[in-house]
Amino acid sequence: MSAIMDSFAEIAEMAPYYNFKNLVETGIGTDLLKGGLAVARILELQAYSCDNIPDRWMQAREVYPEAILGLMESVEFLRDVTPRIHGPTFFFLDAHLGTAGDLWPLYDELQTLTTVRDCSRDVIWCDDIQHIADPANPACKGQRVGYTRADGTIWPGDTKHTLAEYIACLSETHDADVVSTVLRFRPKVGE
Ligand SMILES: C[S@@+](CC[C@H](N)C(=O)[O-])C[C@H]1O[C@@H](n2cnc3c(N)ncnc32)[C@H](O)[C@@H]1O
Repeated sequence: MSAIMDSFAEIAEMAPYYNFKNLVETGIGTDLLKGGLAVARILELQAYSCDNIPDRWMQAREVYPEAILGLMESVEFLRDVTPRIHGPTFFFLDAHLGTAGDLWPLYDELQTLTTVRDCSRDVIWCDDIQHIADPANPACKGQRVGYTRADGTIWPGDTKHTLAEYIACLSETHDADVVSTVLRFRPKVGE
């Protein structure tokens, strides 16, 4: 698990190249100085984020009044909000392993995004993809795959979809690679 701020330099370099207007994060988290809202403020991008835990959403509303924030499930947020967002957008999909809602909505998030929005000029990064429990997934190497729930039972990671199936969600418009534990989609040249 890493915070988006750890990749600030790379995102700052990409922003003018792709002409980002917005930053959409799913999963506000607890450290507001290291999350997507902080990155968006520094880069002067319109910020959007969501969380399904009320305290996290409320705190973010106080610190980042300029941001558009949803107290909702990430899939719902992407479905309802992203069709109305104009211009090239940087997405950081990081709403998972929470105590409320879905444990791992990432595959549904990608399916939803590509259904409701023309993403062809967007860059989309998905964090923590070591949890795609596919032997062909390089992010699993040296990482714990899965999660111990609060009740002590184990979630083994996403055993339903391979990494190739995730990549296929955007394969018409994007190239993909895995850097550390992040699955990164970038628009195909000429798209
Ligand atoms: C890893 S933290 C996000 C960290 C933040 N993006 C950063 O880079 O610092 C994940 C957050 O997602 C939230 N979350 C988990 N599952 C979610 C879901 N299905 N919908 C919305 N938020 C969710 C959790 O409550 C938690 O605050």
